[in-house]
Amino acid sequence: MHTPICDLFGIEYPIFAFSHCRDVVAAVSRAGGLGVLGAVGFSAEQLDIELSWIDEHVDGMPYGVDTVMPAKSVDTGGGGDDPDDLAARIRTMIPSEHWEYVDELMDRFDIPPLPDDVEPHGVVGWAEGVARAHVEIALAHPIALLANALGSPPPDVVDQAHDHGVKVAALAGKAQHAERHVNNGVDVIVAQGHEAGGHTGEVTTMVLVPEVVDACEGTPVLAAGGIGRGRQVAAAMSLGAQGAWTGSLWLASAESNSGPETIDRYLAATSSDTVRTRCFTGKPARALRNTWTEAWEDPSGPGPLGMPLQNILTAEANARINRTHRSDLGFVPVGQIVGSMNKVKSVRDLMFEMVEEYIETVERMHSGMTAPT
Ligand SMILES: Cc1cc2nc3c(=O)[nH]c(=O)nc-3n(C[C@H](O)[C@H](O)[C@H](O)COP(=O)(O)O)c2cc1C
Repeated sequence: MHTPICDLFGIEYPIFAFSHCRDVVAAVSRAGGLGVLGAVGFSAEQLDIELSWIDEHVDGMPYGVDTVMPAKSVDTGGGGDDPDDLAARIRTMIPSEHWEYVDELMDRFDIPPLPDDVEPHGVVGWAEGVARAHVEIALAHPIALLANALGSPPPDVVDQAHDHGVKVAALAGKAQHAERHVNNGVDVIVAQGHEAGGHTGEVTTMVLVPEVVDACEGTPVLAAGGIGRGRQVAAAMSLGAQGAWTGSLWLASAESNSGPETIDRYLAATSSDTVRTRCFTGKPARALRNTWTEAWEDPSGPGPLGMPLQNILTAEANARINRTHRSDLGFVPVGQIVGSMNKVKSVRDLMFEMVEEYIETVERMHSGMTAPT
């Protein structure tokens, strides 16, 4: 399974794992892949704590950090805002019709209000000011990779990472995005297809990966979206990728911080149970379909707003829903590979099984293409 990207990062397997959970990140890197911590949900202070923990638990193996800097954001160029001030500013941009719809949904689903001492916080990690603070913190730790979703990082951030000896990756949902990333100095392209969990585009992994590989000759490409087992890693490599960038798979691992109800939902879901919806963040993101996602598709409602307004609009509602543990309403982002996530396994076992199945697949292909047993 060794490809040139393994040498670039000093890793055994070209398996990259995006996770918001530090235990998963450290376990993947210790198991020979490269764990990448998603920063978007953390304050800058909390990110520092998470990274210090990883530094102590990763046994010196390389790991990365993923920020979310959209190419366009309400605060682009206005970096440095306090997250609470920014959220307050965003609230003023939300039409009253949307506030009324959220109130109506809270009544319709009979969701109790928050206790007085609980403050809802929307995720503002994708606002430029907050994401830049994440970059500063990340570069103060011994990271090997800085990845960015929703666009190339700004040129000065790419330069800053390179000055620290850190490689830069960016997610691409179209070949044109990938070309732009290469022109902006990005070192690794993550070609992420429609099947993926979280924010995702319209082009499927099978179609996207060869297009991206051809569009950015010479720049390593990782395939993402719908990869959870060795046969899929082999397919990604045959499409020209140097490895796989995975996310959903680890959500139901033993190390994951997903709650027990959420884990049960992953284990029960089929690959048909997800939907690409703007109702959580304002940009299309894949999650389990439920009553909440359907309420935002209802043509009699106002429909979702853009990023970051939708998240701030629904921050309190989501906090209220989360307290009820109502799985028919909460946000459960995951990709179509959820249909194969049928048992809780350790990160080490998932990695071992993926490598084993990859080797069997490659041997089978060399020896006459019989069906897998
Ligand atoms: C729960 C969840 C949250 C995600 N959040 C982010 C994120 O904050 N930044 C990012 O670059 N990618 C994010 N992604 C996308 C992953 O980086 C990755 O591209 C994707 O999970 C790959 O497809 P898969 O889910 O089929 O493995 C997220 C994915 C999931 C499942």
